[in-house]
Amino acid sequence: MADKLLSRYEELKAQINEHNYRYHVLDAPIVSDLEYDRLLNELKKIEADHPEWITPDSPTQRAGAKPSEKFEKVRHPAPILSLANAFGADDTRAWFERVKKLDDRVERASFVVEPKIDGLSVVLHYHDGQFVQGATRGDGEVGEDITTNLRTVRAIPLRIPVSKSAKTQVPKTLVVRGEAFIPNKDFEALNKKLEEAGEKTYLNPRNTAAGSLRQLDPVLTASRPITLLVYQIVYSDGGKVPTSQWEILEYLKSLGFPVTDVAKRFDDLNEAIAYTETFDKGRDALPYEADGMVIKIDDLTLAADLGFVGKDPRGAIAFKFPAREVTTTLLGIDVEVGRTGVLTPKAALEAVEIGGVVVRNATLHNFDFIEEKDIRIGDRVLVKRAGEVIPYIIGPVVDARSGKEKKYKPPTKCPACGQPVEHFEGEVAWYCVNAACPAQLVRNVEHFVSRGSMDIVGLGIKIVEQLIEAELVNDVADLFTLKKSQLLELEGFAEKKAENLLGSIEQAKGQSLNRLITALGIHGVGEVMAGDLARTYGNVTALSKTTADELQQIEGVGPNIAESIVDWFARPVNQKLLKKLKAAGVDPQMQKDEKKKDGVFTGLTFVVTGTLPNFSRDDAKAFIEGNGGKVTDSVSKKTSYLVLGENPGSKFEKAQSLGIKIIDEAELKQLAK
Ligand code: IVH
Repeated sequence: MADKLLSRYEELKAQINEHNYRYHVLDAPIVSDLEYDRLLNELKKIEADHPEWITPDSPTQRAGAKPSEKFEKVRHPAPILSLANAFGADDTRAWFERVKKLDDRVERASFVVEPKIDGLSVVLHYHDGQFVQGATRGDGEVGEDITTNLRTVRAIPLRIPVSKSAKTQVPKTLVVRGEAFIPNKDFEALNKKLEEAGEKTYLNPRNTAAGSLRQLDPVLTASRPITLLVYQIVYSDGGKVPTSQWEILEYLKSLGFPVTDVAKRFDDLNEAIAYTETFDKGRDALPYEADGMVIKIDDLTLAADLGFVGKDPRGAIAFKFPAREVTTTLLGIDVEVGRTGVLTPKAALEAVEIGGVVVRNATLHNFDFIEEKDIRIGDRVLVKRAGEVIPYIIGPVVDARSGKEKKYKPPTKCPACGQPVEHFEGEVAWYCVNAACPAQLVRNVEHFVSRGSMDIVGLGIKIVEQLIEAELVNDVADLFTLKKSQLLELEGFAEKKAENLLGSIEQAKGQSLNRLITALGIHGVGEVMAGDLARTYGNVTALSKTTADELQQIEGVGPNIAESIVDWFARPVNQKLLKKLKAAGVDPQMQKDEKKKDGVFTGLTFVVTGTLPNFSRDDAKAFIEGNGGKVTDSVSKKTSYLVLGENPGSKFEKAQSLGIKIIDEAELKQLAK
């Protein structure tokens, strides 16, 4: 009976270990989580009755060990070497030329190219196929014993070969080396979880993996999504192992170790370099951080014969990608006023080179970010520059603090115009809402004259800039008092051009109230809402006297938008602007409560996103309203249809997530029939 149970126990261990391997190494599980748990529970039950049977390779022995007091030292059976770096193709060829001179065989050598993962180098010891010890690299001679932590890493086989069917022979002693790391996706998920729990997030996958493996409580390590890839046999005794790098990778794989699947062998160095370069460009395609590729001479006997320079073997070279993350000092924080009035904090940095470009500034995203990450002036900060992305700050290097760093307070006034800044509920950004703010003037005028607004033809961004530069325009109302003589003084203006422009400005005085309200650029007020406001109030003066409560009677106006509207009209600068507009003859009136037509769309609400094939936005709106429907700016549960065009925005995803019916222009027309 006990015999039978014991053999069941052995079978369960082997089965679970194999499922583990399929899940964590091959990424190809064949049982559901439920079935897996069932097997594990059966195993745990047997172990509870027979604790004397438990062996270290039992899957239950991965986590749960007690925290250590400190890590013991481990002497490596052979030096754990490092690699010389090459920066670019020429550097790599220079390495090849150097080693070629030392040995004729190099001329005919093949190369294996592998990713150089940015993680923590670990050394794993197997005795009689059992995982018995795991260590950090340390100084290359002596490392730290982190066996209990490494046991929690499920990609590490506790017994090799993992698969019983594997024919591969295992030496009595086998010591392998690999790189432990956290995949990018898992790192992001971990940070997201921490953020949601209100806890501090981690800076990057590398530090997190290294930190998690080098702390004393294995339970904590077990909770981190650490995995690894192995690439080297450091030592073996009592059995044969292959003598080429390519075969070593195959061999390690057959034993059940996780091995990179992007390694390739080349007979020609230039091809190896070309392959490496494709990874530099497509670095983000790798599921983990790699700081380069390693080019290794495949023949390991030859590689060993070439010897070392210090700790760097001559037989391999690290082809480094330009760094994307560096640390530098945060000298100060500047505040920029963006096109929409958003204030963005910008880091002024001690100049630093990242990937061949000198970086002096980086974005800090928003003021909440500075607060959350506790970024202080004078901090050493980690800066990342990847591809075309603007460099950004990842966070402070807290350990590097001297105590002299200063906390930062966000501005309460716009740095460009001195007006108080505003915050809208539900948004992280702070805004300058002063329409006359010089930093925003260009964009304000641009918006004011744009097609959906006052539609002043012939007033492009260049001319807007010219007018502001010449101080002819200090707010949008100044457009209506421009004189021909003034325009003629500007570069590029002749009689005809000046007359045309003044003509279209004159014409704009007759634009509808909807358009004027849209043109004012009040935060949260788009074309559709402007139409509702126009119908409700009839003119700008009446609208300017309204209250937040009254505004909220209008469908689609919530407390945030109501407050934003009231605030806008309360500002003296904006009141002055309205007076000037009125004086210039811009004061459109509208029949109040103009009834909307009834039709097939009565009671239905539409949102339009993307570019439609035939309809412009205005056309689509007119079509829907003409059939009695309503058009709103944002998708909600109340939306009846989303009309989808090309290059849709986030409204599309939102509609999908809410299960809103999605139609195209043709279907919209069909519906109206
Ligand atoms: S080979 C002789 N291969 O890069 C063997 N190293 O300084 C020397 N690394 O600390 C190392 N991926 O931890 C090698 N595929 C790979 C690697 C790799 C990452 C790390 C290793 C070492 C550093 C080189």
